[in-house]
Amino acid sequence: MTSEKIQRVGVIGAGQMGGGIAEVCARAQVDVLVYEPTRELTAAGRARIMRSLDRGVSSGKLTEREREQAAARLRLTSDLADFADRQLVVEAVLEDEQVKTAIFAELDKVVTDENAVLASNTSSIPIMKIAVATKTPERVVGLHFFNPVPVLPLVELITTLKTSPEVTQRAEQFAADVLGKQVVRAADRSGFVVNALLVPYLLAAIRMVESGFATKEDVDKATVLGLAHPMGPLALSDLVGLDTVKSIADSMYAEFKEPLYSPPPLLMRMVEAGLLGKKTGAGFYQYGDKK
Ligand code: 3HC
Repeated sequence: MTSEKIQRVGVIGAGQMGGGIAEVCARAQVDVLVYEPTRELTAAGRARIMRSLDRGVSSGKLTEREREQAAARLRLTSDLADFADRQLVVEAVLEDEQVKTAIFAELDKVVTDENAVLASNTSSIPIMKIAVATKTPERVVGLHFFNPVPVLPLVELITTLKTSPEVTQRAEQFAADVLGKQVVRAADRSGFVVNALLVPYLLAAIRMVESGFATKEDVDKATVLGLAHPMGPLALSDLVGLDTVKSIADSMYAEFKEPLYSPPPLLMRMVEAGLLGKKTGAGFYQYGDKK
């Protein structure tokens, strides 16, 4: 069967990643359906996406008309059954294998197109672990976006031993031609390319602060001024979310047993304390605006 051009996308989760993915799809003139489990969360998800579209208007990247058109292409639902007609679904919920596999098992039953792309935005979980929760693993890929999604141009595409060539091509075309992202291929190994490089670096910075080797301000200043990074590793950990950094580290450690991937105690204590970074208002730094 030949695959139709993708015009109907679904996004599972309207948090910082899911909201960003939904936004870039709507801005690329695609019909977008977004799932959150409750009415309160769908309302919060829409508000988050609208704030980001407003930011696009105030920074001159979008006209008011384009914002209204993008908003009109976005629908939010609390019923996964509404995803039956989707041609591509991107799952972007928290980094928890059980939660993700439960969603894929359900999506597999609901989405009817046999060449639909069922994608996970997981940061680190091997895609095969998610694909085996479905009866159609040939439809499952990883499409890994970067935060903030409207700003960062990269998408990692991860295929498994079972992904079909049609689904792979459809996913790549969508990310590149419709969303205008740059695509790199990554092997189905925990961390893929970017997080396999990034996370040991973030953990090393956290260990430096933990051991008193340098202050968090100096570690961040050193990488911004000495390496021309847009932000330092502690500020970046706060942006990514310390719970997510820990989950990625756990997943990479489970896969490779490499001591440098194991989360340092300071990171574990901060996650236990609910100091998750920007999204909770406090992490290594304090944030006035939680969103
Ligand atoms: N949504 C939309 N646009 C945003 C945005 C957001 N959330 N955040 C920033 N922007 C836009 C701004 O509108 C601005 O656009 P303009 O230049 O056209 O006016 C531009 O980005 C720069 O923003 P600011 O001037 O507010 O702030 P900065 O110059 O300090 O940039 C930053 C902020 C874009 C976050 C920049 O510091 C950056 O790129 N940092 C690195 C981020 C990074 O490494 N992300 C990857 C994390 S790893 C990951 O996501 C993978 C996962 O699996 C963990």
